[in-house]
Amino acid sequence: MGRRLYMETFGCQMNVLDTQLVLGRLRAEGYELAESVEQADVVLYNTCSVRQHAEQKVWSRLGRLRGEKKRRPELVIGVMGCMAEREGAGMFERHPQVDVLCGPAELDKLPGLLERALAKAEGMGRQVALMGSRDGGRPAQHGGADGLEQLDLSRSVSGAEDVSQAYVRITRGCNKFCSYCVVPYTRGPEVHRPPGNIMEEVRRLAGAGAREVTLLGQTVNRYAYRHGDGRTTSFAELLSMVHEAAPGLARLRFVTSYPRDFTDEALAAMRDCSRICGYLHVPAQSGSDRILKMMNRGYTVGEYRELVERARSMVSDVSIASDFIVGFPTETEEDHEASMELIRHCRFKNSFVFKYSARPGTMAAKRYKDDIPEAVKRRRNSEVLAVQQTVCLENNRQMIGKRVAVIVEGQSKLASRQGKSDGEPVQLTVGGRRAGQTQLIARARGDQIVCFDGLPELKGRILSLEIVGAEGLTLFGRLAGS
Ligand code: SAH
Ligand code: SF4
Ligand code: F3S
Repeated sequence: MGRRLYMETFGCQMNVLDTQLVLGRLRAEGYELAESVEQADVVLYNTCSVRQHAEQKVWSRLGRLRGEKKRRPELVIGVMGCMAEREGAGMFERHPQVDVLCGPAELDKLPGLLERALAKAEGMGRQVALMGSRDGGRPAQHGGADGLEQLDLSRSVSGAEDVSQAYVRITRGCNKFCSYCVVPYTRGPEVHRPPGNIMEEVRRLAGAGAREVTLLGQTVNRYAYRHGDGRTTSFAELLSMVHEAAPGLARLRFVTSYPRDFTDEALAAMRDCSRICGYLHVPAQSGSDRILKMMNRGYTVGEYRELVERARSMVSDVSIASDFIVGFPTETEEDHEASMELIRHCRFKNSFVFKYSARPGTMAAKRYKDDIPEAVKRRRNSEVLAVQQTVCLENNRQMIGKRVAVIVEGQSKLASRQGKSDGEPVQLTVGGRRAGQTQLIARARGDQIVCFDGLPELKGRILSLEIVGAEGLTLFGRLAGS
C-alpha cells in the first residue's frame, strides 16, 4: 500500500539535492507526496543548523505537530539533515513525538528507518542513524561504493523529478573548520567522489533533459580525487571532463568556491569550456584580516583580492558573488567598514549577508563571547546590504542595451502567486503584454536574474534577451522581436 509523505526542506543546495535523492528512493518504494501534514502517514523535515534562525523554524514546526501526533499516534515524524546530526538524541527530550533521526551522512539508511518506525508505530519505535561526534580535521577521503555513493548514483531521473536544472555533488562534507561553522560537524569529513561516477550521473541527467548542471561542494574548487594507482584528477580536469562528457548540456556551474588554492588551470577551464558559466560564488566572510584570522578562514584580504583580480583577468565577464558575516565576536566599526570596502573594490554581483549566530560546539562559540549586540548586528547587516545594492545597481545598469543568453526558470513569483498565467505586472514591465504571456524569470550565465514577458511554455529554454531595464537585483529583458 502506498504511504503518503509530507516533506519540507530547509537550508542550502546540499539539502535540496538530498531531498531529491531521498524522495526518488521513497517514491520507488511506493511513497506518494501528500499536500499537508493532515494527509500524511510520514512527516519528514530536512533541516539546517547553520544559524539559530534556521533551527527555530523547525522547532516551531515540531511544536505544532504535537497535537497531530496525539490525535494520530501512528503518524511517523522524521527529522533528517544537519539539525538531526547536531541535536542528536537531545531532540527526543525536547520533542518526544519525533520517531526518526537521520544525519546527512547516513541518508541511505533513511528508507529502512522509516519502514521500521511505521511497523512499530505508536511512539515505540525510535529509529536513529547519526554519524556521531567529530572534533578534528582529517585528510580528505576518496569515495567509492558506500551507501551514500549509491544514493547519488541511483538517483531517479524518471520524470517525477524536474531535472532541467540539476545539482550533482562532487564533494561531501568539509574539513575546513571555519571557527563559526557547524557544517564539518554535521556533514562529516570531506569525501571526494570518483570522477567516473560524477560523469555517469551528469550523462544520465543530460539524457533525461537536464539543461543546466550545478556541481556541488562546500569547498568545490578543492576537489582532487586520488585514484588507486596514485594518479589524481584535479578540479580543473574534472571540469573539462564533465564538459566533454555531456555535450547536450547547455550550462555547467559549480558552487561554493573556497578563496584559497583556486588554480589557474581551473580558471583556464572556465575560460576555455564554452558551456561553463563565468560565475563564481566565493564567500569572503569579512574584509578584515584580524576577523578572517579569528574565523580560521586561512587567507588574507590581500589574497582574496588577488584571486578576484586573477579571475577577472582570465575569465572575461566573470561574475562574482560573495557571503559576509556581520557582528562576528569583537568586530569593530573599522572591521565592518573594511567589509564594505571589499564589496566596493570587488564589485560583487551580489552578497549574501548573515548576522553572526553562535553555534554550539564550534570553536568560535567556545572561545569567543558573542559580544556584538543584536541591534548593532542588524544595523551592520543593512549597511553591508546597502553598499552591495548600490554596486549591484551600477553593475546591472551597465548591462542595459546588451543581449544576454538566459535559461528560463519559470513564472516569476509575483505572477504565479496571483494564480493566473497573465498576472498583472507588479514591477516594471516593458511594452504591452500579449495574450497568454506572463512575467517569466530567467537566469543569465553570470547568475543575474532577468524578468521578461513571454509564454509559460518557454520554461527550460535557452533564449537571447535584450536588457532594457535594471532595478536593484533584477534585470528586465525583452525577447527579440517583442
Ligand atoms: N561552504 C560554504 C558556505 C557554507 S554555509 C563556504 O565555505 O563558503 C553558508 C554561509 O553561511 C557561509 O558562507 C557563511 O557566510 C554563513 N554562515 C555559516 N555559519 C554561520 C554562523 N554561525 N553565523 C552566521 N552565518 C554563518
Ligand atoms: Fe563551513 Fe568553512 Fe566548511 Fe564553508 S568552508 S562549510 S564556512 S567550515
Ligand atoms: Fe545548513 Fe547543513 Fe547546508 S547546516 S547550510 S543544510 S550543510
